[in-house]
Amino acid sequence: MSGKFYVTTPIYYVNDRPHIGHAYTTILADVLACFHRSMGDDTYFLTGTDEHGQKVENAAAKNGVTPQQHADETVVRFQELWQKLGITNDDFIRTTEARHKDVVKEILQDLYDRGEIYKAEYTGWYCVGCERYFTEKDLVEGKCPDCGREVSALKESNYFFRMSKYQEWLIDYIKSHPEFIQPAFRANETLGFLKQPLADLCISRPKSRLSWGIELPFDSDYVCYVWFDALINYISAVGYRRDDAAFARRWPASCQLIGKDILTTHSVYWPTMLKAMNVEMPGSIFAHGWWLTGNTKMSKSLGNVVNPMEMIGIVGVDAFRYFLMAEMTLGNDASFTREALMRRYNSDLANDLGNLLSRVVKLTLRAGGAIPAPGEPTGNEEEFNSAVEAAVSGMKSCLESMKLDQGIAAVLSAVRAGNRYVEQCAPWALAKNNDIAHLNTVLYTVAANLRKLAVLLAPVMPGKMAELQKALGGGDELLTIGDLLSGNCPDPAGRTVQEVAPLFPRIQEEEAPAAPCSKAEKKEKAKAAAPAPEAVELVTIDQFCKVKLKTARVVAAEKLEGADKLLKLKIDIGEAEPRPLVAGVAKYYTPEEIMGKTIVVVSNLQPATIRGAESRGMLLAAKFGKELRLVTVDGDVPAGADIG
Ligand code: ME8
Ligand code: MG
Repeated sequence: MSGKFYVTTPIYYVNDRPHIGHAYTTILADVLACFHRSMGDDTYFLTGTDEHGQKVENAAAKNGVTPQQHADETVVRFQELWQKLGITNDDFIRTTEARHKDVVKEILQDLYDRGEIYKAEYTGWYCVGCERYFTEKDLVEGKCPDCGREVSALKESNYFFRMSKYQEWLIDYIKSHPEFIQPAFRANETLGFLKQPLADLCISRPKSRLSWGIELPFDSDYVCYVWFDALINYISAVGYRRDDAAFARRWPASCQLIGKDILTTHSVYWPTMLKAMNVEMPGSIFAHGWWLTGNTKMSKSLGNVVNPMEMIGIVGVDAFRYFLMAEMTLGNDASFTREALMRRYNSDLANDLGNLLSRVVKLTLRAGGAIPAPGEPTGNEEEFNSAVEAAVSGMKSCLESMKLDQGIAAVLSAVRAGNRYVEQCAPWALAKNNDIAHLNTVLYTVAANLRKLAVLLAPVMPGKMAELQKALGGGDELLTIGDLLSGNCPDPAGRTVQEVAPLFPRIQEEEAPAAPCSKAEKKEKAKAAAPAPEAVELVTIDQFCKVKLKTARVVAAEKLEGADKLLKLKIDIGEAEPRPLVAGVAKYYTPEEIMGKTIVVVSNLQPATIRGAESRGMLLAAKFGKELRLVTVDGDVPAGADIG
């Protein structure tokens, strides 16, 4: 009755340090893999690193090493983090390994021989940051449609994959396989993208411009485009063209996890590549949302990137995994804050789960140390038992529908029902009154149910849930979800519990988190803090200098959907990348009017998300009556000049 399960993560670029986003996808894949193993499925879990391309070449050049040396040094960061996080991947593929490169070359040669790849002159635009080509009409205000950066004009010969010819097929496939691209709104997003004619995909880079890649087997002047190379890892790692039996056992992948940033490459390039190779489609490609820091996108330049190692240091590996899985509704964005991590740790894990275990262990030790056979029902069992049954039967369907947070929530609600049960039955009083028949029922019910809940949470918190099962006399053999589902769980009665240190000791933050405060209260507080309207508050020169004003060139402008007063801008303030900025000027300036203007902005304003759009900075404008005029500077001033 058990099936097979092959799960993949994106292979991460080695030019970066792993952060919470990379950790998230990998932990998610691990949790899914552990669930499926626990259900008895033939499970395989692949992750790895993407080591070719411009980004890696640039990063290596910056560090004065060869790209291979750079990759060899940085890949370790990922491997060490995965070890630290208890990741149980079956394989780790690096795209610079011969086992991958050789397969990519064979695929290229085969596609070339069959006319799926052809050579042509390319004229158009190229974004170095995104490593993507664009046609004139793709550009937004002359800039990269994805990142808003400058693009460069290009005219060169290149090799193209005939992706366009699969457009109709792909549309039909997505429509007739609703589970293929998930969540459903991402399938719609892909179908929206496919309303435009699909161009052929440029799959080569001339070595004169980029040498760090897999050489095309039919033209040594070129290397393979990094995405064409990278996507192939999902099949090269499991024996494509090398080991037919292994390949048939693993492929098609059941679930290919990605972040929403790489949807097009996985929902358009990848399926059309597979189609051209006559390889079966994966079961599903699941794009999850973004982890934000508070409400803001994580980015190196903002310096708000969450380092997983630091978080593990505070709450431990298992609680960190638990937080990420419980807090994100799959498909949506989620916000990471230290406060939320502490809150969940202290409430779900310390107060609820940890507490239920320590109660049952202490009470059982006091009663002799062995889990008793149940006596008479106390009459309070029903709510607790049915919450546990619901958690057991719900987990499988939550897993199938990728609603892990709901599955976890059901387990926690059963844990809470367990604590209520203990309070209702007051076993300490039963012991005192020598009501052994009822006491035995309570101790047995808690131990047996808690053990089941631990089995359900084991994929999320493997270490702590193994400790929990051992504390309840589980010895070394741990139950699996397959055991629970088939009802094949040995009776815990008669086992000896073990004294354990608290599983999740409460963590006191140095600073108690600010008490929650209603909107009305906030207004009151703000009023009390604000100076009286007639008093002019004087500032010192030092105070004024804290505000960093800069000139900024508006390089992209559009209306913000659903907000008639707001424009969504991209501004160049002399940084590597243009910044997003949302401004309440739509009533006074059209996007066309504001485009290209050199304006004045507060460059060190705390970032904010306004109507779902990121904003980093604030522009200055004069208001008079019903009018508003932008503050601009006299003469021709470059973007990014300091004002003060
Ligand atoms: O794109 N929140 O690699 P990459 C959630 N090499 N997930 C995040 C995240 C965040 N803030 N930031 C990153 C590449 N991720 C290519 C992939 S696959 C054949 C090639 C996760 O290092 C998420 O899974 O930029 C995202 O898709 C991935 O990291 C991008 O990693
Ligand atoms: Mg990326």
